[in-house]
Amino acid sequence: MSRLATTQLTRPEGIIDLSIGQPDASLLPTSIFDANNIDAPSLAYGAPAGDGRFREAMGHWLTEHCGTQVKGEALLITNGSSNAIDMICTRFSRAGDTVLVEEPTYFIALKQFTDHGLNVVPVAMDDNGLEPEALATAIEQYQPAFIYSIPSFHNPTGIDQPLPRRQQLVAIAKQHQCLLVADEVYPLLDYDKEPAAPLASLDADAPVLSIGTFSKILAPGLRLGWLQGSPDLIDQLSSSGLISSGGGLSPVTSALVRPLLINGHLSQHLAQLRHTLKERRDTLVNALHRHCGDRLQFNLPHGGYFLWAHTQADIDTQKLLPKAKAEGVGYLPGAACYTHTNKTNAMRLCFAFYDKEELALAGERLGAILN
Ligand SMILES: Cc1ncc(COP(=O)(O)O)c(C=O)c1O
Repeated sequence: MSRLATTQLTRPEGIIDLSIGQPDASLLPTSIFDANNIDAPSLAYGAPAGDGRFREAMGHWLTEHCGTQVKGEALLITNGSSNAIDMICTRFSRAGDTVLVEEPTYFIALKQFTDHGLNVVPVAMDDNGLEPEALATAIEQYQPAFIYSIPSFHNPTGIDQPLPRRQQLVAIAKQHQCLLVADEVYPLLDYDKEPAAPLASLDADAPVLSIGTFSKILAPGLRLGWLQGSPDLIDQLSSSGLISSGGGLSPVTSALVRPLLINGHLSQHLAQLRHTLKERRDTLVNALHRHCGDRLQFNLPHGGYFLWAHTQADIDTQKLLPKAKAEGVGYLPGAACYTHTNKTNAMRLCFAFYDKEELALAGERLGAILN
């Protein structure tokens, strides 16, 4: 057998590693894909903003699921959210520019910004997400190329910005004419209510780009996602050198996914996925309450993949990690999600990659090390 790694699905031996932020094999619906849908147009260079048939189907599907009209013309197809972030950096920033981010934030977006030579400036958050006043002040101070925010079931904190906060942030972006990039990977994974409308739908005249992806709702290996924005922003992105040379992104994958949008399979899968994730969240939460008690504090996330927990103030979760691994449990130390802080008592726990029995055991093991 080849010694080259095939995927990132391999489970580390002997530990339940809650730092892994992806669906496990049991959540990947192999049987719903049909390669017969790959026709001649999907094997040609793609149209600049992505396959028109797919964009249209995506528009209808998003309109049905997000409680607001999303037109196919407002979408540009990408190779997932990471690719969308990269395209935005390439098109709307230059090395040395500033990007404003939430603190804490998605740790790998920080790496992408650094790869582009951007100066990353953190903006404070409160219980409802990015703080409007702090954001406005930072825009005036730094004149950033753009703001990067994760409004729904934030990675890592799980915070879901309420609608008034979303409206305030969009209004600030509009007032300052500063591009707001909303990385909306998780809104469709709301366990209790209808998904929030994309930020790009809140005000057609505000400079907002909403990023969506199939990675967390269908399968990350598809490398398929979308960007939603005004015609002007979509045109600027689709006239990049990348797309001018290689054509619109992911025509073959779009052909595989389009029937699932139309025949209801994606919606069914999503309903089942929300149910499973909610059960897994509950299992982990119950285990943490039982075994860690008040040594671990956290808020209940109502969607998404993550639980953000704090130990006592004097515990550095980075330093604690080897001990945790020796007990058979892993997590993402909170420090990874900050721009400069190298000591924090936070940890991000993902409940999407392990089943209920394993999550219960992980909670027990965390309890053992915190004791
Ligand atoms: C906030 C956020 N953005 C982007 C990504 C990466 O998404 P994709 O697989 O679509 O590139 C993730 C994955 O964890 C994420 O949590």
